[in-house]
Amino acid sequence: MKMNEYVTLGRSGLRVSPLCLGTMTFGNSRWGSEDEESRAIFDRYVEAGGNFLDTADGYALGESERLLGRFVAETKLRDRLVIATKFTFCAEEGNPNAGGNGRKNIYRALEGSLERLGMDYVDLYWMHAWDTVTPVEEVIETLNDLIRAGKIRYYGFSDVPAWYVARAATLAECHGLKKPVALQLEYSLVERTIEREHIPAGQELGLGICPWSPLASGFLTGKYRHDKSTEEGKSRLDVLKDAPNPVFGKFTERNWKIVDAVASAAKATGHSMAQIALHWVVTQPGVTSTLIGATKKEQLEDNLAAMEIEVPAELREELDKVSALEPAHPYMFFDRFLQNRVNGGVAVHKWRNG
Ligand SMILES: NC(=O)c1ccc[n+]([C@@H]2O[C@H](COP(=O)([O-])OP(=O)(O)OC[C@H]3O[C@@H](n4cnc5c(N)ncnc54)[C@H](OP(=O)(O)O)[C@@H]3O)[C@@H](O)[C@H]2O)c1
Repeated sequence: MKMNEYVTLGRSGLRVSPLCLGTMTFGNSRWGSEDEESRAIFDRYVEAGGNFLDTADGYALGESERLLGRFVAETKLRDRLVIATKFTFCAEEGNPNAGGNGRKNIYRALEGSLERLGMDYVDLYWMHAWDTVTPVEEVIETLNDLIRAGKIRYYGFSDVPAWYVARAATLAECHGLKKPVALQLEYSLVERTIEREHIPAGQELGLGICPWSPLASGFLTGKYRHDKSTEEGKSRLDVLKDAPNPVFGKFTERNWKIVDAVASAAKATGHSMAQIALHWVVTQPGVTSTLIGATKKEQLEDNLAAMEIEVPAELREELDKVSALEPAHPYMFFDRFLQNRVNGGVAVHKWRNG
């Protein structure tokens, strides 16, 4: 897989590179980069053939969208790039309609995003997270209205239950509406939960899977020690170690064992730990384009090189084994032992188109 070999995003005609540049660190003064460094990261990504950029209305209080929009305008690359942003999180304390997935907020959020980006449309509009209350019909109707109005080209769902996206895709299909084309979810060697429901749903429904935090916020690069800090004490999980957001709670006994396995594979192959961890995600079944992040240009360089490496099968098996999900109901019914009983002991493979 190479950066300038594009892939269609799910069952759509939108071509994206296999690594998407996440810009959550742009304009972020606590654990992101200075603007000049963000620009160098943007330039290097595009130079390498990357065409897919991810932001959100809430990243750095809108500063990520502003910077991304500025870089795109200055480089005159709007037509070449696939720009994705998101709505859901609340923009005004005490006002529940300035957040969530209702029609009123989606219109408000998109107007703000387009203004900050300095664009008249976005290519891909993500629902950032399920808000647990808005009817799914309202969400897909609103996003279809925005497609018809020319404000967005495609839409997708991030951080949702698999049943929700299955219902959305099925309802849209039954009503002749445009369907979601992609799913954005956390996926890495330390967070493999989406293998149970979301990846099979994506494969069945034609949704491109776009993993976020493939390095678990930098945890899998080996920079953190068991006493929970980096040498400099300035990386993301140092800064956010007391944050209430469970996404940043990576320092567990299970996860340290996975870090050790990544370190062994890196030593055996001569690749960096970041490359081993990222290569594992981008080559997993169902993955379409992986969202990477970097606070320094050298990190991006390291990560781009992960596209070219090979990891021997026995080392990959070690990584698979140490990070495997615990058996759980009802998924254990779909494993080989019980399927053998279903199929009378012979192998049955599902027909796949292509
Ligand atoms: N939909 C969602 O809910 C959601 C949530 C999170 C992220 N996202 C998207 O996904 C994108 C990527 O997520 P992420 O930033 O968490 O990805 P990640 O790849 O897991 O973490 C990136 C961080 O790891 C460190 N790093 C990266 N490459 C490195 C290397 N080669 N060597 C050493 N350290 C390295 C850097 O942080 P330090 O320099 O601080 O160590 C960098 O900012 C975001 O920008 C955003 O667009 C979406």
